[in-house]
Amino acid sequence: MSLAAEPRGVTARVPGKINLELVVGPRREDGYHEVATVFHAVGVYDHVTVHASEEWSVQVHGPYADLVPADGANLALRAARHLAKVTRVRDRVAISIDKQIPVAGGMAGGSADAAGALVACEALWGLGLTREELIPIASHLGSDVPFLLHGGTAMGSGRGERLAPVLARGELHWVLWVSADEGLATPLVYAECDRLRGSRTVAHPEPSGRLLSALRTMDTEAVGVALRNDLQDAALSLIPDLRDVLQAGLDLGADGAVVSGSGPTVAFLVGSPAAAIDLSVGLAARGPQGEIKRAVGPVPGAHLVSSFTPSDPSRTG
Ligand code: C5P
Repeated sequence: MSLAAEPRGVTARVPGKINLELVVGPRREDGYHEVATVFHAVGVYDHVTVHASEEWSVQVHGPYADLVPADGANLALRAARHLAKVTRVRDRVAISIDKQIPVAGGMAGGSADAAGALVACEALWGLGLTREELIPIASHLGSDVPFLLHGGTAMGSGRGERLAPVLARGELHWVLWVSADEGLATPLVYAECDRLRGSRTVAHPEPSGRLLSALRTMDTEAVGVALRNDLQDAALSLIPDLRDVLQAGLDLGADGAVVSGSGPTVAFLVGSPAAAIDLSVGLAARGPQGEIKRAVGPVPGAHLVSSFTPSDPSRTG
C-alpha cells in the first residue's frame, strides 16, 4: 500500500463586497451600464481550494451550496479554465468552495469565487503573475472580479472593472440583512432601473465628493448620510418589502442603510461593534424575516491561506 499523502490543495480566502456608492449612468452599446462606484470589501468570506486533478470539477459546501451551480456555469470553474487557457497551462483542477457569501444577494459572491480561483490556481501552477497581471484576466470574467482581487475600499469606473484607490482610514462596522427566500439576478435589476428611468436622459456617472471626504476621516455619521445606490429603487420595485427592512434598521438607530449592489442584501452602518450587536439583536426581534450577519470593512481582497477546514453539506459537479 502506498503511504504517499494526497497532494495538498491551495486555498484562497476572498471577501464579499458592498457598494458604498453606486451611480449608474447610461446603458452602453454592449448592454453594460457605465458606473461610478465605491466598492468596500467586508469580512464575510468564501474559501476556494484547488487540487491538481485529471478532470475539471467543482464542489460547493456551506449554507448556500444548493443555490450555486456545480457545473460548467460555476464562475470559479470558468475562472480556472480561463486562466489555464490564457497562460497555456494544460493542468486541470478540482475546485472546492466553502460558500458563506450570500448568493444572488448583491455582494458579488460569484465574482468572489472567480477571484479566489484565479489566486489559488496562479499559486498552484506557479505562474508568477502579479496582481496587476491578473486584473485583465479577472475583468474578462465579470465587472466585480477585479475588485475582489484588489479588496479594501476602491473606486470603480467603466462597468466597474477599472479601479482606483480611495483614501480611507479606519474601520466601518456593518450589520447585513440577507433575504431568507429571494435573490435578485443582476441583469434583472439593471433592466428594472432602465424601465423606471424610461426615456429620461441619464448623465455620465460621477462619484460624489461627499462620500470620499467622509471616508478620508472615517466619520461614520457622514458616511451613513452619503451612502447611495442608484439600483436601490429598482430592487425596491422588484421586492417592495425591502422598504420595511431599510426603515427597521434606521428606526433602530443605524447611521445609514443601503441596498447592497443589485440587492436584495441590505447593509446598515453603525458606529461600533457594540452598536452592531444591538442592531442585530433589535432587527432579529423586530422580525423582517432574514439572516443577520455582522461584518467589518475594509478587508483585503483574495489571498492565500495556509490551512482551512471546509464545512458541510456539499454539492459536487
Ligand atoms: O459583469 P457581470 O457579468 O457581473 O454583469 C452581469 C450583468 O449585470 C450584465 O450582463 C449586465 O446585464 C449587468 N451589468 C450592467 N452594467 C454593469 C455591470 C453589470 O448592466 N456595469
